[in-house]
Amino acid sequence: MSIQILGTGSYLPENIMTNDDLAKIVDTSDEWISSRSGIRQRRISSDEMTTKMASFAAKRAVENAGISADNIDLIIVATLSADKATPNTACQVQEAIGAQNAVCFDISAACSGFVFALNTARAYIETGMANTALLIGAETLSKMMDWTDRGTCVLFGDGAGAAIVTKAEDRIYETVTGSDGSKGFALTCGERKLNNPLVQHGNELAQIYMDGQEVFRFAVTVAPKCIKETLLKAGIEKEQVRYYILHQANLRIIKSVAKRLKEPEEKFPHDVEKYGNTSSASIPILLDEMNREGRFSRHDLLVLCGFGGGLTWGSILLEW
Ligand code: UT7
Repeated sequence: MSIQILGTGSYLPENIMTNDDLAKIVDTSDEWISSRSGIRQRRISSDEMTTKMASFAAKRAVENAGISADNIDLIIVATLSADKATPNTACQVQEAIGAQNAVCFDISAACSGFVFALNTARAYIETGMANTALLIGAETLSKMMDWTDRGTCVLFGDGAGAAIVTKAEDRIYETVTGSDGSKGFALTCGERKLNNPLVQHGNELAQIYMDGQEVFRFAVTVAPKCIKETLLKAGIEKEQVRYYILHQANLRIIKSVAKRLKEPEEKFPHDVEKYGNTSSASIPILLDEMNREGRFSRHDLLVLCGFGGGLTWGSILLEW
């Protein structure tokens, strides 16, 4: 048994922030940001929180799949920017879209989150614990940014993407995932310190810190490696892959992965120039854009690949 994607959806905040807009806030320039990352603009939320964006993306995915929300029996939201510790984002989405038959939980795996959510849904479906799953990557990273740190605040953006998956008998699916907690220091956010009658540390603002070069080196090494391992496990040649849908962190990373895999850049679609790095949301947003443009045909082989905080990584080969 395997799974298939029935439909996709996404939501991006209205408000566009260009590189020139950012140059008014921190010491940076359009030239630096676009040459180092490929990013030209990003969406920054003025009132949409993570749950709201996740719910909009979910509604669009349900419509696109042509199902009723009643049919969904599993909702997983991948996010590092949940609006609340509890209830989790998935339960709030459940309420917003009326998916009363679903079991709902969030997972935290930063930019690999959507890949991990898809694998979790597949495990639920293959073991008969669920039939139809709604997966969402949703982030309001702007609320966790140090807006005085030009090394990070120019890179990230807000948005949400979603997919509906269900069981299928005859689709290719293979995956490789991994984690390296010893490198967790390279990308951190919001340590919650002890704060009780015995110990009072107070809590800092939850802000993203990233050692960009460390994460860059990690990304350009791990992404091609796990993609190659996935294809090997599946017995599929790289030439058979229609598109490589990578986490949208940096255009230089995407081009480097293409080069290391010796595959043409045209097979590596990107929208990082429009939306920046939206962490767990970047893969499903791109998937939805391409789906709505009609760029997928039945039997197309797609590779999804996420990498980031944790450190975590994962790739999935699936058949459209
Ligand atoms: O989603 C999780 C995965 N995240 C990633 O994959 C991100 C991976 N890392 C990267 O994409 C890149 O490392 C960055 C885009 C973050 C940075 O590019 P870089 O080529 O590694 O630049 P750098 O950090 O080495 O900085 C080079 C210079 C420094 O100045 P000095 O020390 O050479 O004088 C920085 O202070 O650029 C300076 N700099 C900036 N200058 C203008 C850093 N940020 C900026 C900025 N504007 N926004």
